[in-house]
Amino acid sequence: MRMNLLHASLLLSVVSLAIAEATADFECPPTVSLAFTEAHHYDDVDYDPNTGSSINGSFWTDSNTMETLHLLMLQTGRSDFDGLADNSFLGRNALIPFTDWTTFTGPFIDDAGWAVLALWAMAEYKSTRHQENVDDFLAAAATVYDLIASNWDDTCGGGVWWTVDHTYKNAITNELFLTLSAQGYLRFKNDTYLENAKKAWAWIESSGMHNSQGLYNDGLVFGTCVNNGETTWTYNQGVILSGLGALYAATSNETLIHEAEITIDATILNLTSNGVLKESCDDVKPEGTPCDSDQQIFKGIWLKHLQYFLTFVRSKHPELVDKYKDFITSQSEAVSRVATDPHLDIGSVWYGVNEGGSIFSVQSLASGIMAHVANAEYGTCLDN
Ligand SMILES: *[C@@H]1O[C@H](CO)[C@@H](O)[C@H](O)[C@H]1NC(C)=O
Ligand SMILES: *[C@@H]1O[C@H](CO)[C@@H](O)[C@H](O)[C@H]1NC(C)=O
Ligand SMILES: *[C@@H]1O[C@H](CO)[C@@H](O)[C@H](O)[C@H]1NC(C)=O
Ligand SMILES: *[C@@H]1O[C@H](CO)[C@@H](O)[C@H](O)[C@H]1NC(C)=O
Repeated sequence: MRMNLLHASLLLSVVSLAIAEATADFECPPTVSLAFTEAHHYDDVDYDPNTGSSINGSFWTDSNTMETLHLLMLQTGRSDFDGLADNSFLGRNALIPFTDWTTFTGPFIDDAGWAVLALWAMAEYKSTRHQENVDDFLAAAATVYDLIASNWDDTCGGGVWWTVDHTYKNAITNELFLTLSAQGYLRFKNDTYLENAKKAWAWIESSGMHNSQGLYNDGLVFGTCVNNGETTWTYNQGVILSGLGALYAATSNETLIHEAEITIDATILNLTSNGVLKESCDDVKPEGTPCDSDQQIFKGIWLKHLQYFLTFVRSKHPELVDKYKDFITSQSEAVSRVATDPHLDIGSVWYGVNEGGSIFSVQSLASGIMAHVANAEYGTCLDN
């Protein structure tokens, strides 16, 4: 018997969170169509149904892609990729009883965080379609979450470590812990998650990683615990937003909205060129050090977590959707007009016409899809 009372209650609560609801109010047929065209291109060309993984991908970027395809189906009410959750590498491991989730995600605690987000998105999809075995996905997510939480200690006053060998405390791992904890509370109403969310935010706020420009640097120097001044990657400015938005939804603390706006506005001011997101390693020309395969997905993650932020705050702050919708649309248009090739592949450089520096990979494709998904939910709809 898989369905016991605990699982039944989890099932009910997963329906109540709604990272996305298929409501018509924000939906725009042309932008929805573009998002699905590119998502189908990924599914047709880059996804290997035999392995449940991308052909040239990696575990953590695949987790992000699975999350995004399910988010797109949830927000539109469509079922184009029905069955993908169970077929995916994460899903098939959730469905077998002997997977050891405490080692499954490997040494990287941030990779574990992306896996939880993917498992929750797939669980939410399956739950809204009244499919079986939702509880298996939630149980896997709960185990992986506990693994992340167990890597918190008092070094540098708190925070979870980046890897299990405990040598680096950084922004992304802790931003993920914040968003998982706050979203976990909204899903399950379990106070442990809310306490962890408050603890994670208090530590991030006092850690010194948030610099005077309003951007988050990569992490802290081992030993001295000061801001290491390393790259302000776009995804470090993104995941914090969904964490602040979910914690705001749980606490109604307006300061969290203010903190999020500072970082969104600083990103738009500092991490763009021609009004379009530009990773520091992005270059239209093949010069300098190119973005690696991880860095090629960061801009899309920024947009996905801005989308989550707006979803968590829009009922009390509808003006924020108006404030940012044009910027979201500009990103999707740049992806479509500048970064997409005739085969529908999407390159890593969005801010200008490719002169050989744009890299075409499954990560850059997934990044572009995230821009289209955010635009489909919150962008301006010119053709409608
Ligand atoms: C995967 O990478 C190999 C080697 O670069 C390439 O030949 C192949 O076309 C790629 N496949 C896909 C689907 O991207
Ligand atoms: C709440 O979450 C914590 C951490 O994952 C877990 O140990 C505990 O069993 C949960 N409590 C309930 C009532 O589900
Ligand atoms: C609201 O959040 C701010 C920023 O983290 C914090 O300083 C303040 O104590 C919070 N207010 C309440 C009532 O918890
Ligand atoms: C960010 O923008 C501010 C204001 O325009 C500028 O002073 C600062 O140098 C910029 N920083 C970066 C890293 O671009």
